[in-house]
Amino acid sequence: MAAAREQPALPAALTRALPLLDPAVREAPGFPDVRPGYLDLLGGGAHDGATGGGGPAQRLMRSRALPLVYERWWRPAWGRVLKGALAGGMRDEHRIARLLLGLTPGDGVLDVACGPGNFTREFAQIVGAGGLAVGIDASATMLARAIDDTPDGAVAYVRGDAERLPFRDASFDAVCCFAALNLFADPETALDHMTRVLTAGGRIAIFTSCRLQSAAGRTVEELAASRSGMRIFDRDELVDGLRARGYADVRQRIAGLTQFVGGRLAA
Ligand SMILES: C[S@@+](CC[C@H](N)C(=O)[O-])C[C@H]1O[C@@H](n2cnc3c(N)ncnc32)[C@H](O)[C@@H]1O
Repeated sequence: MAAAREQPALPAALTRALPLLDPAVREAPGFPDVRPGYLDLLGGGAHDGATGGGGPAQRLMRSRALPLVYERWWRPAWGRVLKGALAGGMRDEHRIARLLLGLTPGDGVLDVACGPGNFTREFAQIVGAGGLAVGIDASATMLARAIDDTPDGAVAYVRGDAERLPFRDASFDAVCCFAALNLFADPETALDHMTRVLTAGGRIAIFTSCRLQSAAGRTVEELAASRSGMRIFDRDELVDGLRARGYADVRQRIAGLTQFVGGRLAA
């Protein structure tokens, strides 16, 4: 009989994140599985490995190779290609995330589809020891990289599905979702969940795709989207979607094929 693998001690931030989880999640058999250093709510299955479900872009996110080059090379390069050469680089994206999220020490922040924690780590620094930064992602390889690159216990990483966030209602003061909404099979449901877990007055920040205006541009976009399995959002789609969900002060900045959108959930 195989010996059961021992559960390591819970990292500090994870200990504080557990009470935010939906009670049904906490009652599931085997909970909490924290053996990889993050809380794993997915185990094997469709989200596992480079050959699981989703389109080519999704499978790439689960590969072993991408997390090795993601933060340093891949993400800045794709940002440049999609936003245009004149748009700001990663430093500008971090600035916009900070602006839209309006984080202060003591806040609770959720980074949805956090990848290797490239934004989550900064959020943890801003909210400080009195706050809580949680990163959720479906990719085991991205999260392994996040654990390696994050100071011990500073961020609570969870392997879970953004389209059914495992947290209680009104758990966070701010929610970020950068470079991922366009990858989700059901972005509307993901947006519903992000809204559900925000407190009244909570802030949301999204960075995702944006449809070009010209007919020629649209044709190229449709081709790229169908090949990659990524969604391209219309210019007003997310602004309208946030307003319909009860957000005020909705702001949008379009850069090439991308858009930043943010808002504050009305109290
Ligand atoms: C391009 S990365 C974005 C990482 C980071 N937010 C950034 O801005 O660089 C997209 C991430 O979305 C994750 N992802 C895609 N679909 C997901 C889902 N349904 N639930 C959770 N994470 C998902 C992928 O695993 C990948 O790590």
